[in-house]
Amino acid sequence: MAPRRKFVALHRNGSGRTVNLNLRYAPFPRQEEFHRSPAKYRLFGGAAGPGKSKALLWEAIQQARETPGSDSLLLRRTYQELESSLLAHFRRDVPRKAYKSYNESKHVVTWLNGSTTRFGYCRNENDVYQYQGAEFLFIGLDELTHFTLKQWQFLTSRNRCPIPGSFPCMAGATNPGNIGHAWVKALWVDKTPPAGFERPELYDPQDYDFIRARLDDNPIYANDAQYRRTLEALPEHLRRAFLEGDWDVFAGQYFDVFDVGRHTARPEDLRLEPWLPRWISIDWGFHHPSAVYWHCAIPAFSDQSPVASKSTNTGRQGSTDHCELKTEN
Ligand SMILES: Nc1ncnc2c1ncn2[C@@H]1O[C@H](COP(=O)(O)OP(=O)(O)OP(=O)(O)O)[C@@H](O)[C@H]1O
Ligand SMILES: [Mg+2]
Repeated sequence: MAPRRKFVALHRNGSGRTVNLNLRYAPFPRQEEFHRSPAKYRLFGGAAGPGKSKALLWEAIQQARETPGSDSLLLRRTYQELESSLLAHFRRDVPRKAYKSYNESKHVVTWLNGSTTRFGYCRNENDVYQYQGAEFLFIGLDELTHFTLKQWQFLTSRNRCPIPGSFPCMAGATNPGNIGHAWVKALWVDKTPPAGFERPELYDPQDYDFIRARLDDNPIYANDAQYRRTLEALPEHLRRAFLEGDWDVFAGQYFDVFDVGRHTARPEDLRLEPWLPRWISIDWGFHHPSAVYWHCAIPAFSDQSPVASKSTNTGRQGSTDHCELKTEN
């Protein structure tokens, strides 16, 4: 497929005047690389601050402009996160005259050419099903590693467009780390089907393009010695993730295959009968934070796998503190 055209964002408003959105966004070279990638699934991933979220918003705007009458979807995991990132960029960057309307309650922008961009969130695993039946030319997930593989996979089924000549595609922007680190790294960085990918033989690495973002890619922060010092002072693994965008930083994490949908359940879905076997486990944490877990084996639940019904993670504790914790619960 031909590379995408150079990023130019022009919309014509009702009076026939051209609104030059390009004045509001001139992509940095790494952002340009992201916009030009012809892959079906793009990941703009790495350090904190190179302009990933902004690029994701403008990708959706560009797609809406290129394909009149199309719909696109931009997601964060929670509404608060949406407000402070994608919606904040939208309010700051896009002048009112560049779009026909904005539905405040549904968070849907209708552009001058009839295309729409919806801002949404998927707090719970099953919240993605609110998009069942919808179809989107472009779906962008900000902080992709906050999402689960199941959510991503379901959304790929919503990525279609009936407009002839259109090319449905999706993109993620993210720092390394968080619950989705392992599956995101597998798909884009290691180019291999992740655990939980049910039909690995259908995985085509060519569909996945990883654009690695570093702090230096944003000239504003590249020269901000204060911000760089702040990142350098972070604990080792956060420093490597946020400053260098290092994806190997969580290598060997115990829960490499942890899947929120598969390995967690809502308390109301569990019936903890008094006669069920229970026990606790404690990591004393004399030198590191301590952790106490309350377990219970539920016969009918997941092949008798134990479930942790409660956990307490605290700072360093002595043995008497643990006695208090045990009796409290
Ligand atoms: N092309 C650009 N022109 C001008 N400013 C930009 C551009 N791209 C990003 N910025 C600015 O740089 C800052 C960081 O951008 P953004 O929030 O998109 O980064 P990020 O990579 O998503 O950061 P984080 O990792 O913290 O989520 C913002 O203030 C944004 O407005
Ligand atoms: Mg961001």
